[in-house]
Amino acid sequence: MKTDLLYEGKAKLVYQVRDKTGHLVLDYKNDATAFNGGKKEVFTGKGRLNNEISAYIFNVLNEQGIQTHFVEKLSETEQLVHQTEIIPLEVVVRNVAAGSITRRLDIKADTPFNPPLIELFYKDDDLGDPLINDEHALFLSDINKSELQEIKTKALEINQQLTRIFKAVNLQLVDFKLEFGRLASGCIVLSDEISPDTCRLWDITTHENLDKDVFRQGTGDLLEVYQKLLSRLEARS
Ligand code: TMP
Ligand code: ASP
Repeated sequence: MKTDLLYEGKAKLVYQVRDKTGHLVLDYKNDATAFNGGKKEVFTGKGRLNNEISAYIFNVLNEQGIQTHFVEKLSETEQLVHQTEIIPLEVVVRNVAAGSITRRLDIKADTPFNPPLIELFYKDDDLGDPLINDEHALFLSDINKSELQEIKTKALEINQQLTRIFKAVNLQLVDFKLEFGRLASGCIVLSDEISPDTCRLWDITTHENLDKDVFRQGTGDLLEVYQKLLSRLEARS
């Protein structure tokens, strides 16, 4: 089904599809990276886990009427998606202070944000994905003011859905990163992935991290933690 490799990212390969114009195949890799690729390790089985977790979440979001690029899971590591042109913004939603914001603004870890806080980063590895403001986002991408507002509104809606999904498996959604893309029709939809690579998830009872922070900080076994997350989600479906 898949043909030419279009693009290789840090966590996924993106292929064109032979008989389905307007679609792509994403193939999840076993690589884990952190600090803009400064730390890298291969974990056999990580690609399958993130493909399964992301497919689970996108299926729920599709069912809830949120427009996404996701069509279906094809194999252990592959999924079929609608082709989009990725908007070069990383949209981060924070419910609780953790990670870069605690260092950048000297905010105490664990401080709740109510309402949730949205941050925009410019998706550019050479620049180290810098934090940007709305004016920068409008200048650096092809979206207009009302589309930026639409993206923020969608990000908050997705936050509500994800918070609910993870709470059902005793996890607190601390923060996460989204990417949006434009379909050929011009419509903007949720793209990329939602996985423990792109979310911070803390066990509500034990405060254990079930996300990539175990790899970033070297505090746990990535495969064990990702498997635990998938098993909890599967036990609910
Ligand atoms: P941060 O605290 O490092 O800014 O990360 C905020 C959230 O975004 C966290 O859930 C991890 C996710 N994230 C990515 O998905 N990709 C990235 O490149 C970075 C830096 C963070
Ligand atoms: N995604 C980034 C990297 O691959 C950073 C991160 O997630 O911490 O280096």
